[in-house]
Amino acid sequence: MRLIVNPAIKKSYIHPEVYGNFSEHLGRCIYNGIYVGENSDIPNVNGMRSDIVEALKNIKLPVLRWPGGCFADEYHWKDGIGDKKDRKHLINTNWGGVVEDNSFGTHEFMELCRQVGCEAYINGNVGSGSVQEMQEWVEYMTSPDVSPMADLRRKNGQDEPWKVKYFGVGNENWGCGGNMRPEFYADVYKRYQTFCHNYGKNRLYRIACGAGTGKGNPNYAWTETLMKEAGHLMNGLSLHYYTIPTDNWQHKGSATEFTKEEYYQTLLNASFIDELIEKHGAIMDRYDPEKKIGMIVDEWGAWYDVEPGTNPGFLYQQSTMRDALLAAITLNIFNRHADRVHMANIAQMINVLQAIVLTDGEKMLLTPTYHVFDLYKAHQGAHLLGSMIEKDPVPGFEGLEKVSHSASIDDNGKIHITLSNASADEDISLSLRIDARAVSLLEARILTGSMNQMNTFEDACAVSIKPLSGVSVSPDASGTEISLTLPAVSCVSLSFE
Ligand code: AHR
Repeated sequence: MRLIVNPAIKKSYIHPEVYGNFSEHLGRCIYNGIYVGENSDIPNVNGMRSDIVEALKNIKLPVLRWPGGCFADEYHWKDGIGDKKDRKHLINTNWGGVVEDNSFGTHEFMELCRQVGCEAYINGNVGSGSVQEMQEWVEYMTSPDVSPMADLRRKNGQDEPWKVKYFGVGNENWGCGGNMRPEFYADVYKRYQTFCHNYGKNRLYRIACGAGTGKGNPNYAWTETLMKEAGHLMNGLSLHYYTIPTDNWQHKGSATEFTKEEYYQTLLNASFIDELIEKHGAIMDRYDPEKKIGMIVDEWGAWYDVEPGTNPGFLYQQSTMRDALLAAITLNIFNRHADRVHMANIAQMINVLQAIVLTDGEKMLLTPTYHVFDLYKAHQGAHLLGSMIEKDPVPGFEGLEKVSHSASIDDNGKIHITLSNASADEDISLSLRIDARAVSLLEARILTGSMNQMNTFEDACAVSIKPLSGVSVSPDASGTEISLTLPAVSCVSLSFE
């Protein structure tokens, strides 16, 4: 397998936010996930689990989306401020019918972002909230002035306004966010965003709800209508795509027990996001040829049947090396579309769907998907590089390449290449050429295991990143020749200077 990277072809900036996460009031993502409360025996700072915060800092988590998801369009932010003992208790009608005590609200979310050092992405309520409610939330969070909402924030203990960059105007408004037609939502979007003001120095990046897609329903009409009617009033347009192994949402398949065929089919289905980005992107290009509007893939990842014995409304699933490959392939695709994809948020951060962290009481583990985010973190804020790779599809799964890759150069001139080998049983010899630069190897790391290997609470490090040996680097007069082996089912990162 031959891969050529050309450092002279410096392409688009890779927005760090492409490596973002999503956290919803769903199952054990927030409660019994990141948030254990100030009085927990689990080590925490202001209620946030310290071990998870450290893990998120390690991958340089750039942005976190909250509070939903479907939950966002039923969330009334005033329920989640003020003295906790006075906060409303209500039923989370979307997810599991459990009691939501609102002990994690705006102040707690902003505190989490502060501890992690990431940008806040707040998703507002269009489906069941009023324009006034949304306007006041933005004012509450960001106004430095004398104003009713800023004064209320001060009364609740936060003198300084927070910085809130990303603001979503509704979620899946074609479905759980109100079952709207695109024409109707476009008008609603225009109206609501008008009152999301920029207070003081805060500048909002307004995100309109985009298409929810599936292999059978790519929903291009939604993007067309939104761009036509409201493109001039948005900074970003979202896109959701979940990978399921089958085409049947009633029987998606197990997260951990699957055949080789199901493994390949899942990765093939995941690769479909490339076509979705191209085709939705082509529609956006007609209205926004300079690609100023970001495609915000604010929900993506694998969705399987829940772990047997768990609440079906909690969407708890284990995570294997199959998911690591899915993440590696997807993140390489996002990098290669860096000109249009300006943010992405895997669903979801903790204990829900393709989580990067799982918890069980005080125990915590990092999933194989977490380790992919670790391998890929050097791409954040770098520039995509031109590259070419030989085609070698998985037989019988046309459209799924065995090897996926992306390459970037950072501001210090270091080159970062990420690779994955999806083949379940074939090690692949890679002959990599870096054109026109004599480089030396800084670091080579690998995540590998059998396709359904995972970390468990009994063996939390069964799958973890190791140094990759056997990388030979030979500079010559016109570049550098590198050779290495990509083991079956592996994700690799290489850095050169
Ligand atoms: O991530 C779970 C759900 O999937 C979200 O709440 C919703 O936006 C999507 O349908």
